[in-house]
Amino acid sequence: MARKFFVLVLILKFLFNVFVYADEGMWIPLLLEKYNFEDMKAKGFKLTAEDIYSVNKTSMKDAIVIFGRGCTGEMISEKGLLITNHHCGYGQIQRHSSLENDYLTHGFWAKDMSQELPNPGLTVTFLISMEDVTEKVLQGVSDKITEAERYQIIKKNIDKITSEAVKNTHYKARVESFYNGNQYFLFINEVFEDVRLVGTPPSSIGKFGGDTDNWMWPRHTGDFALFRVYCGKDGKPAPYSKDNVPLKPRKYFPISMKGVVEGDFTMVFGYPGSTSQYIPSFAVQEIMNETDPARILIRGKKLDIINQAMESSPLTRIQYSAKAASIANGWKKWIGEIRGLKRLNAIERKINFETEFQKWADSTKTDDKNYSNILSKYKELYAQRSKYNFASIYINEAGLGCDAILLTVRLRSFENLKNADKNTVEALAKEAKSKGDGIFKDYDEQTDKKLFIEMTRLYYNNVPAEFHPAYFSMIGKFSKKHSDPIVAFADYCYSKSVFANKARFEKFVNELSPKSYSILQKDPIYVLMKDYIAVFQDKISNQIDKIDYVIDSLDRIYMKAQMEFQPNRLFFPDANFTLRVTYGQVSSYYPADAIKYNYFTTITGIMEKDNPDIYDYDVPKKLKELYINKDFGSYADKDGNLRVAFIATNHTTGGNSGSPVLNAYGELVGINFDRNWEGTMSDIMYDPEMCRNIILDIRYALFVIDKYAGAKHLIEEMDLRY
Ligand code: ARG
Ligand code: ASP
Repeated sequence: MARKFFVLVLILKFLFNVFVYADEGMWIPLLLEKYNFEDMKAKGFKLTAEDIYSVNKTSMKDAIVIFGRGCTGEMISEKGLLITNHHCGYGQIQRHSSLENDYLTHGFWAKDMSQELPNPGLTVTFLISMEDVTEKVLQGVSDKITEAERYQIIKKNIDKITSEAVKNTHYKARVESFYNGNQYFLFINEVFEDVRLVGTPPSSIGKFGGDTDNWMWPRHTGDFALFRVYCGKDGKPAPYSKDNVPLKPRKYFPISMKGVVEGDFTMVFGYPGSTSQYIPSFAVQEIMNETDPARILIRGKKLDIINQAMESSPLTRIQYSAKAASIANGWKKWIGEIRGLKRLNAIERKINFETEFQKWADSTKTDDKNYSNILSKYKELYAQRSKYNFASIYINEAGLGCDAILLTVRLRSFENLKNADKNTVEALAKEAKSKGDGIFKDYDEQTDKKLFIEMTRLYYNNVPAEFHPAYFSMIGKFSKKHSDPIVAFADYCYSKSVFANKARFEKFVNELSPKSYSILQKDPIYVLMKDYIAVFQDKISNQIDKIDYVIDSLDRIYMKAQMEFQPNRLFFPDANFTLRVTYGQVSSYYPADAIKYNYFTTITGIMEKDNPDIYDYDVPKKLKELYINKDFGSYADKDGNLRVAFIATNHTTGGNSGSPVLNAYGELVGINFDRNWEGTMSDIMYDPEMCRNIILDIRYALFVIDKYAGAKHLIEEMDLRY
């Protein structure tokens, strides 16, 4: 009897763990104790909520930073050493690369601190504290005022809160809205601006598998790079200076050498960018049927052209690699997202939810509460929004989607040339030089022209004429004499415009004067840009802003209503690029009938993929030697395998890249870098069966640093736990 009971308890526990708690959710560190701690403990977490986030003592949050503008990074030594993803530092690595010093292809390792490379503009941001300021933000707000008044009051309150919060300190403050404006938190940050590149593997490790393997499991990418944070002698943030010293962080992560096994607790602590879990079916429809397909089509065309150019020369490869990676990243994610949403019947599920919601709303209608018309309003708004959304995607992705026109966008200040005095002209010339350098360093005229042709063609053919820039009249003119008037239009633009050619641009800038203004007004690419912008301002953003304004306020009300409709459900707030904890378990999965994907990959898989003819699969010689000699040091697992990556059920999104992945004891076991393709719809709908985050096994990073790069001095800085 006792035994039967025990078995029953075991089964219940199993069911409870596995089925009752899906691993969905990105939680607020300050509120873990209240909402998540019991669940975390049940899943295996061994520390306290205070160990994760505390204002009174050092906690894990003190080791985590926003890296640059869109990634996460973490401290791993008392000398300011930081680890993040190779793809997060890609822009910096690319900027330091030239044909002579091609760090993208060969990697880079500073022998000592004096060789570390500064990165102007790159910052890391620590969180000092966070606080619920909802009451203060909403002071003076009531149901009686208009949305516009509400907006004004909130803005004023936030300005006051942030300026008071950091008075007489070197900190920065920001207030962010949670649950679509139903709750507000204040964040106090410390921002460091001297961040230097310490080491990066070659792309053949750090970006192994390239865009082909991107968003995919099984994965073999050694996606990491090392930086170091410097500060003034007083320990405070300071602009780059030779005299700066390495930052001694309040906390850095110890590194586990033990690895993980299936079922292990893992936690990701970082900065997820944005999710849309609570949107209505109409919004999901827009994403699946309009937004994603348009962007996929445009970017697919761009990639055809860029990939071909990159194959044709090593210089264009360097010039276009960062651009290609970012274009391809979104393109592939959206393809996966549509598939995942279809597989989940996302629209149908939302509609079913909405049917129940509507019944509830109609039956609970009272004098001061009426949620009955939320959904019908949404329906109307999304119908209105459709054509503007479409045109806006086309302007941003296609119309303004090549470099020559992008340069004109960045130099709209040229409008001030008209009647400018000497100082203004000088300032404009200086700005133009620097922006021109930025573009032309990575510019190939023939490639850009091809892009221009295809982007113009897409815009011309797919976007309704009411949104065509006036200058398209030229295409009409060319059509009388040319079989392909778009090519003729491009020939004209690229042979005449000063923005399409480096030498012409430099000459133009060197001779800049108020008279240049009239040249600009005849410059085809400049004129085209102005016409696109005019269309955007007069015919799109005006309308779409008005609609979105109403949608935003509806989102706030709908969020609140959903929480009232399901009072027993624990709602996590959508990601908003604030620090979050997500936790789950190491877990294999079944991507399709009869296929099981194991939860980890090994170096053997790298060798299986080796193909010297394909840039992304060209395994470096040194790595092959280490493999043949099984020279894995102490970085192999119990069975002697060198593991590369693993997967878990942590709910992550863009921005979580570079986030520390921690075991039950708060030790670093990996670096988050991606999700699986079957799970990319998790921004909109999470599926515990299919959604996995992809994590670099920290031991592979250490192996590369030590055995591949011979940078043992960096390992010695770290705190390894055996
Ligand atoms: N998919 C990952 C993320 O969204 C990594 C992207 C970088 N890698 C690439 N091959 N483009 O950021
Ligand atoms: N690769 C993403 C990032 O850069 C992470 C993700 O979307 O899963 O943040």
